[in-house]
Amino acid sequence: MTASSDLRALCQTLLNGSPDRGTLQTVEDFIKTALLGAQGQQSSPELRLETWTPVDAPNVADLAERRSLLLALSPSILLEGAWLARVSQPATGHLSAHGHLFAIYGRMIGLDDASPPLPQHFRTLLTSVRVSLPPLFSPSFFNDRRFPDFALHMPCLHLGLMHRPRTFFPELLGYTLGHCFLDSAWWASLADQRDTSWISARERFSDDVRPLASAALESYLREHDDSERIRAGWHLYRRMFESLLTDFSNGRNRRPTTVDAMADIVRTKRPYAVAYHRRVMLQERPLDQWLAEIEDDPGPLLEALRNSPYVDFKCPAAGRLIRAMDIGGSMFGVFTAAERRLCLDWVENPDAEAKPIDASGTALGPVTALCAEQNLPSARDRPKKPMPSRHTANCRRLFTTLLRTESASDCPPEATIAVERILRRSRWLDLLRPIRRSLRHYDPKAFSQWIEATYRQEAMRYRPLNGNPKIRREFCLWAILQLVPSILVDGCWLAGVPTASENLGEVELHLLQIYADEVGKGEQEQNHANVYRRLLESLDLAVPGVETEDFAQDRRLTDAAFELPVYMLAVGLLKDRYFPELLGLNLAIELSGLGAGYMQVVDILRYYGIDPTIIQLHQTIDNLASGHAGRARDAILLYLDRIRQQSDLSAVQLAWHRIRLGYVSLHIAVLPLTGRFMQRYFGDRLKAAYLTSRTAG
Ligand SMILES: [Fe+2]
Ligand SMILES: [Fe+2]
Repeated sequence: MTASSDLRALCQTLLNGSPDRGTLQTVEDFIKTALLGAQGQQSSPELRLETWTPVDAPNVADLAERRSLLLALSPSILLEGAWLARVSQPATGHLSAHGHLFAIYGRMIGLDDASPPLPQHFRTLLTSVRVSLPPLFSPSFFNDRRFPDFALHMPCLHLGLMHRPRTFFPELLGYTLGHCFLDSAWWASLADQRDTSWISARERFSDDVRPLASAALESYLREHDDSERIRAGWHLYRRMFESLLTDFSNGRNRRPTTVDAMADIVRTKRPYAVAYHRRVMLQERPLDQWLAEIEDDPGPLLEALRNSPYVDFKCPAAGRLIRAMDIGGSMFGVFTAAERRLCLDWVENPDAEAKPIDASGTALGPVTALCAEQNLPSARDRPKKPMPSRHTANCRRLFTTLLRTESASDCPPEATIAVERILRRSRWLDLLRPIRRSLRHYDPKAFSQWIEATYRQEAMRYRPLNGNPKIRREFCLWAILQLVPSILVDGCWLAGVPTASENLGEVELHLLQIYADEVGKGEQEQNHANVYRRLLESLDLAVPGVETEDFAQDRRLTDAAFELPVYMLAVGLLKDRYFPELLGLNLAIELSGLGAGYMQVVDILRYYGIDPTIIQLHQTIDNLASGHAGRARDAILLYLDRIRQQSDLSAVQLAWHRIRLGYVSLHIAVLPLTGRFMQRYFGDRLKAAYLTSRTAG
């Protein structure tokens, strides 16, 4: 099993950082080991779709016990649903089982619900027992030593599965079944009877998701014989949950001593203390060096501290260590009153049983931690240098590779090169665009007006079809085929947005709503790619599975047909790196569905008796009032407002520049395909003119 400090760092990286391949391999091994451990139990019950209650659940009648239990459960429950965040990927979102699981994720994070997400209900429960924890995205969350080490095993699994939803799909399904069928009465037992909102939220959740989980199981088993792996995942959830509770009960039987509690405090504050204690010497070594070297065992440091002049055994409160915590001292504000009291107890007797620390005492370092937290988004936004490559990637091959890419960290360097190529060209187009069509300087009002004007201008261009269309039916069928690679991955530029509920700000929630619509919110028929599949079927245009080599090598599709989807897939995978560009691209895509061009295409399709549902669907759902285009606009407004609050106006203009590039980039990315359309259109016209002249001659 991974060391506890590693586990905390691993959780932090998996949720808030950019895990590299080595980290993903570590977490894959962690999942495999946990699965083996769960399977090793001979008495494992069969998978039955009925509610279950953990054996030997702790008695939580006592308030202090309940508070400690809630703390131990916090990392797991605050991450509720995270393991399903990436279950609906561009290559799998159209599948029934994946759709149902994504719907469960949506239910957990309250996507379409008037009531708050489940983790937020849990926060209310924590508040009721006076526990205050930093948010999940805070760098100090997983390092909070109020969580016992064993409380990090399950969160690590949640997050590991989030990054490996395809490698472990059957297990993920079983894991979700285990979660959904945990008795809601047990969940209710965590709360005081007065916490009715928690109790009713858990009951409603169970009622809502159990049919979805059962449907996911049924549809998956119809096509795959993976019942053993599903059972392994189901058992893994149960075993991990019960282990958490057993470890909690065992831990409660051995009350921590004051030295244990002091060690926890040192572990929590250490990351923020290093570099501030260069001049404090302990046994002729700077305290900074001690802090840097203790890793997970503060024992020697505490021993050295006890033997130093900083501790006064005769009068502990007069010792330099304690005085440094008091007003005017060099560590004033770093320790809570309860932590100071515990420190006094430790000086008096390190082996005495530690009095429970006030759970509301925040462990967050006062200055450095907050700075790190505030800097998080801007650090993420900062572009990194692209990976060098001497050859241009083959678009068809890259299309398949990106579809098979499970996590952003697996993304090949060619993806960055493809994005940078489009953005480079977009910079030129942006420079060449007339000022009136390009909002060079951002302000919220001008931005909203610019969108309105762009939309109106587009809509005004519409002229209903009058007489015969200028293009032939064959052209329509050919064009429908060329759009297959793009529309079968509809929404893919947003596929990296879903994550743990608490990490979804207002901006991300708008994007997530759009993504959920694109993948059909669990309804297979409403999945946009499936709507297009039905159109292809109705026209007898069979194509191989989108993820197969055969699809990418289908010679009916031109090379140009892969340029846009490769760009969209790459931006989706590299979301953290290109977030402002993604916002602009998203706006351009959602607005494009409302243009005159789409309305004219509907007229032409109708004329030839071709089902225009896929286009009509976008004309309604993408609407600027409250649909996707409206959400895309609001996401940008909110994002830039967030930047303004965290930074200054120049940062806002810089971010706007990148958003505008993203907006323009759609025109660049579709250019090759537009070129092929024009070529074919004029080719057809010339051919028709030639044939007419021959007939006339
Ligand atoms: Fe769509
Ligand atoms: Fe849309």
